[in-house]
Amino acid sequence: MKITMIGTGYVGLVTGTCFAEFGHHVTCIDKIEDKISRLKEGKIPIYEPGLDTLVAKNVGEGRLKFTTSLDDAIPEAEAVFIAVGTPSSRRGDGYADLTYIYAAAKEIAHYLQDYTIIVDKSTVPVGTARQVARIISEENPKADFDVASNPEFLREGAAISDFMRPDRVVIGVESERSEQVLREVYKPLFLRDTPIVSTSIETAELTKYAANAFLAVKISFINEIAAVCEAIGADVSALAKGIGMDGRIGNKFLHPGPGYGGSCFPKDTLALMRIVQEHGESVRIVEAAVEVNAAQKARMVKKIRDMLGGSEVGKTVAVLGLTFKPETDDMREAPAATILPALLEKGARIKAHDPKGMEEAKKYLPDGIEYVENGYQACDGADAVILMTEWNQYRALDLEKIKKIMKEPVFIDLRNVYDPATMKKLGFRYTGVGRK
Ligand code: UDX
Repeated sequence: MKITMIGTGYVGLVTGTCFAEFGHHVTCIDKIEDKISRLKEGKIPIYEPGLDTLVAKNVGEGRLKFTTSLDDAIPEAEAVFIAVGTPSSRRGDGYADLTYIYAAAKEIAHYLQDYTIIVDKSTVPVGTARQVARIISEENPKADFDVASNPEFLREGAAISDFMRPDRVVIGVESERSEQVLREVYKPLFLRDTPIVSTSIETAELTKYAANAFLAVKISFINEIAAVCEAIGADVSALAKGIGMDGRIGNKFLHPGPGYGGSCFPKDTLALMRIVQEHGESVRIVEAAVEVNAAQKARMVKKIRDMLGGSEVGKTVAVLGLTFKPETDDMREAPAATILPALLEKGARIKAHDPKGMEEAKKYLPDGIEYVENGYQACDGADAVILMTEWNQYRALDLEKIKKIMKEPVFIDLRNVYDPATMKKLGFRYTGVGRK
């Protein structure tokens, strides 16, 4: 099939490349010329494991192309996916900014020839696909097209395997014809028995928000229970196992931490709250999850201050990991971007390391942080070390060495990577989240 992908951000690039890997002929379009010329040279703008190899392979085999011009790629496409950004609007009210989606719809309209389906891949408020349809019809009344919604559920850092082995594919369609086209797009997955949920466009749009909101609720739930564990001297890790083995609850997304971050959960929970409000309803559980998440970051600042003996003034803090999760260089809504400025402001000196995210981190963190080449350099002479993001590099640290080079052996494990009893035996003053 011939597929065109508008937008070569995280979702567009991964999706387009994976469609090419399925055997489709894919053209990825982006307005940013520099990005496209770099992609043509095989330079990938984001860090996502395995993506560079897959791009190179599919470009080499002639199934994946990059361009800035729509007239190259729209007329012959059977399906056009819109995967442009939908950031939170600049008004700061939680609404998703749909400028880029609508601009894309307007442009696409003029190049449509034979029957084409226009698929929203970006996470968009309920009703957006219908707006896209309206815009296209207004711009080009003769256009023969259907709109559809096909939300993505890709985790950064594991996006390719999530794409190739999804739990399900959700398609929101309004005609049999468009359903057939989307089934054809995903045919390689159906051969692997991937379930497909075919539903209305509105349901598909809302499914994405509901999925992310539910996961955010789950994380905030365990973070709140972690605080309770700390207060009464219980162990949240054992508790999470105890509840997670119940198949109705499930053991995933029950890891306490410094609060969720990333490009999806913070943005989508707020957007859902706004969408729901517009319909005169509320999602109080989601509102609570958002509040708990903000409080969690603040609790981490207090936890760190307590471990520093009550004040950050004049203390050197080593920070291991800055990105919102491992295996990505993404700093969007990373807990580090809230916690570190608070520490700096109160007089701490910070030495930080991240395996892939330091360049990005510089854009999100205030000046005054010292970036070093590895975790040990960060710990050298530090009064405390914070394990902020659970990169593999930090899961098997030489703890004897760290203890020797630190000024004070204070270990603040915000991802519960290490065992408290072992850490204490090694002579650390240790704290995790929800266990002592
Ligand atoms: C998420 C969803 O998983 C994906 O389906 C969606 O389409 C996009 O958003 P992503 O943001 O890449 O993916 O990361 P994810 O692995 O879900 O983690 C999100 C955040 O939650 C991270 O900050 C992570 O550290 C945190 N988290 C996750 C926890 O604190 N505890 C957990 O148990 C799980």
